[in-house]
Amino acid sequence: MKQVLYRNPITFFLGALMALLMLAPASVQAQDLGDAAKGKQLFNQNCAACHALNRKMTGPALAGVYDKYEGDMEWLGKWIKNNQALIKAGDERALAIYNEYNQTPMTAFPTLSDQDINDIIAYTQAPPPAPVQTAVVADAGAGSSDSGVGTDILLGALAVVLGLLLMMLYLVTRTLKRFAAANGIEVETAGRKSLWKAYAQNQFLILVTVILLLLASAYHMYGYFMQVGVDQGYAPIQPIHFSHKIHAGDNKIDCKFCHSSARSSKHSGIPSLENCMNCHKSIYEYKGNPEGPSAEDLANGYTNEFYTGEIKKLYAAVGWDEESMQYTGESQPVEWVRVHKLPDLAYFNHSQHVTVAGVECQTCHGPVETMEILQQHAPLTMGWCINCHRQTNVNVKDNKYYESIHKALSEKYGVEELTAAQMGGLECGKCHY
Ligand code: HEC
Ligand code: HEC
Ligand code: HEC
Ligand code: HEC
Ligand code: HEC
Ligand code: HEC
Repeated sequence: MKQVLYRNPITFFLGALMALLMLAPASVQAQDLGDAAKGKQLFNQNCAACHALNRKMTGPALAGVYDKYEGDMEWLGKWIKNNQALIKAGDERALAIYNEYNQTPMTAFPTLSDQDINDIIAYTQAPPPAPVQTAVVADAGAGSSDSGVGTDILLGALAVVLGLLLMMLYLVTRTLKRFAAANGIEVETAGRKSLWKAYAQNQFLILVTVILLLLASAYHMYGYFMQVGVDQGYAPIQPIHFSHKIHAGDNKIDCKFCHSSARSSKHSGIPSLENCMNCHKSIYEYKGNPEGPSAEDLANGYTNEFYTGEIKKLYAAVGWDEESMQYTGESQPVEWVRVHKLPDLAYFNHSQHVTVAGVECQTCHGPVETMEILQQHAPLTMGWCINCHRQTNVNVKDNKYYESIHKALSEKYGVEELTAAQMGGLECGKCHY
């Protein structure tokens, strides 16, 4: 009798359902809003000047904004297309965020289509293309394909179903007991196991639950790391289109001419606009490409006129009057969007790497001289730092301080050359405050 009760399809179904309950939040997050890859592109083109996913900039961090507004895509669409209209209409949520940001105006994007906006929001959610989500969640998420269903409603519905099933189970047990009594069969009650005990002894059910839990946590972890982490390939649009390809590539200007502090300090820094004007007092238009733009440049709108227009933006920012060749005194700062950013808990020093270790900029930043728009090349994770420290030999030539340490340590390790790791480059305290 027990066997029948506890191995029957209902208990199995209950076990599976409980596991699915844990999965439910993931299924809501993962729903198919739009194409995150396209969204990323649109985001970088339109939004990255003021927003990052996980950092507050001019505007709020946008990761999780879908959840913040409980999946109300209609509102988000209205806000993005014309936030001022919402504010004027006295919309509560619009006013709240507007006032929180000291009434900084956000650009309106009336030309973005609903699909574009879905794609952008999908990117801010960073839904992973993991097969897990479709395979496992398929039957739990019947309602979740509808973007309007909130997590709470779904959880509530599942709880109701669970309750109904428990009641059914109770009724079935009672009927079976009556049936047994009527037929004179003894049902032992003293040693009866609780439902949980029986569950705990059913290896198959446990296996199923464990697998589901593992899948669920793997999926959540993946989503977590996608969000907090790695901004590899991040290439925001800058207030002035500044081409490293034209400056460092075509015109072979040394990196350190502009990023002069890389040699001597923690930060490389971005050059001041005065530094730009050393050259641009005389370079007032772009003639770079005598044959005219290539088909690819044309497709991107990179014509000579476009580039010249960007030099005029520089003039407007520093307050340079071309006619009189004088500064007008009316300048406005250019806020370059930061591309590389380690979290505050990590310490990185440029001069240590560039001057002391002699590592090329490109080893970490990639082929910058070919980048029309600068992008993050390396993942900038802890594993990335550590890997290189394990593999790179320390440059000891012409370095008196290192010569003596090097001698002592290389004898200790019995090697000719020391890696950065052997010099202490794996100690937590070296990279963490
Ligand atoms: C010129 C800067 C700027 C640009 C460009 C910009 N935003 Fe904003 N955004 C803001 C500011 C500032 C706020 C805060 C509200 C306010 O002060 O208007 C904001 C708020 C938001 C909010 C509400 C966030 C919350 O936490 O409530 C969303 C959603 C949003 N922006 C989406 C976008 C999207 C999508 C794009 C690109 C298509 C974009 N923004 C482009 C400046 C900008
Ligand atoms: C003529 C001046 C100039 C030269 C030469 C130049 N840069 Fe830059 N660099 C800039 C400016 C301006 C920015 C900020 C705008 C941007 O990110 O595109 C910048 C940004 C960067 C960034 C991103 C900073 C961030 O926000 O994380 C890196 C990395 C970088 N440069 C590396 C290099 C390297 C490597 C070279 C040599 C191959 C080089 N630069 C040559 C002016 C210059
Ligand atoms: C060993 C790897 C490595 C090398 C070599 C390196 N960088 Fe960086 N660079 C980084 C990291 C990591 C960051 C992010 C630092 C942070 O957020 O504190 C960064 C940030 C920057 C920035 C943004 C502003 C700043 O200082 O944080 C600029 C500009 C830059 N690097 C330029 C250069 C130039 C130019 C060179 C060559 C002279 C160079 N880097 C060599 C790893 C490197
Ligand atoms: C060492 C000289 C030099 C410095 C410093 C310099 N530039 Fe340039 N810049 C050039 C040259 C050369 C060209 C290409 C002109 C041509 O081909 O006709 C150029 C082109 C440009 C263009 C048009 C192409 C593009 O990149 O979009 C812009 C905009 C520009 N510079 C902005 C800046 C800014 C901003 C700074 C300072 C951060 C700066 N430049 C610093 C030499 C310089
Ligand atoms: C391309 C290789 C490379 C990468 C990537 C790299 N480093 Fe290094 N790092 C070195 C070398 C080589 C040294 C040894 C320099 C020396 O001679 O002291 C070093 C030294 C250091 C030191 C000094 C260690 C000591 O013993 O005093 C610190 C701190 C450090 N790196 C932090 C970082 C951090 C943080 C990152 C990642 C954001 C990073 N490094 C990425 C090559 C690298
Ligand atoms: C060579 C430099 C380096 C060394 C050595 C190093 N870390 Fe890190 N660590 C980093 C960097 C860079 C990050 C930020 C990575 C990121 O944002 O993905 C980081 C991040 C972390 C984080 C935070 C992870 C998160 O998600 O925010 C922890 C915790 C951590 N390190 C612990 C340690 C411990 C413990 C050690 C010693 C065993 C250590 N680290 C040694 C460079 C280093």
